[in-house]
Amino acid sequence: EAAGAWRADLAGRHLVVSAGGTREPLDPVRFLGNHSSGKQGYALARAALARGARVTLVSANSALPDPAGAEVIRVGTAAELAAAVTKAAADADAVVMAAAVADFRPAARAQNKIKKVEGRDPEPIALVRNPDILAGLAAARRPGQVVAGFAAETEDVLANGRAKLARKGCDLLVVNRVGEGLAFGTEENEAVILEAGGPQTHVPRGPKEVLAHRIWDAVLRRLGGAPA
Ligand code: CTP
Ligand code: CA
Repeated sequence: EAAGAWRADLAGRHLVVSAGGTREPLDPVRFLGNHSSGKQGYALARAALARGARVTLVSANSALPDPAGAEVIRVGTAAELAAAVTKAAADADAVVMAAAVADFRPAARAQNKIKKVEGRDPEPIALVRNPDILAGLAAARRPGQVVAGFAAETEDVLANGRAKLARKGCDLLVVNRVGEGLAFGTEENEAVILEAGGPQTHVPRGPKEVLAHRIWDAVLRRLGGAPA
């Protein structure tokens, strides 16, 4: 939809969006990954650009075309995404973490391709936790900076979403209802935008572009005032 496209209400703002899904290498040819397409993050970037913002898009392994006018930083792993987003966040008015970040990575990365050995079971793969990028951004945010995240939930969407919002310490959490052909890789999304200490906005099933505009509306409300 074109909603918002005619008003440059994000002009003068620097907005950072992460998109796609991280990949954690196991050896030179294999990784632990996820099915995130990057569509929601890219829709956020395009919507912000249409409303006049300067946009940094940190893109993890997405095949989508660069949005015209965005600064696109391509990353692979969660550690690379953390470094790029943290750097871009330094002078950002808002950061939206739409990327699907791997919670775990292989404890070791084999230097050579892992080979199978006849008559022997494979070695188990030891995993270690990745740092929580969103929680880190929220803890380090400057006064007035808005930090938003996403959560995909299959059950008790509102209760799980509120608990996650509190745990992450961020300003906004966009909770996706997943399952039944929703979200991953599809063109449409249904979500609830939860605000810390504030209202929740239900966005009915529709194009990711529409949800993107509603998210920026909520970010802008919390930013308040004119850009610095
Ligand atoms: N996220 C992050 N760093 C991580 C994991 C997640 O920044 N290591 C961000 C995601 O980009 C998303 C939000 O946190 O914006 C929520 O991700 P989700 O996987 O729903 O949250 P988790 O805390 O990992 O909870 P769960 O155990 O349900 O996966
Ligand atoms: Ca997770």
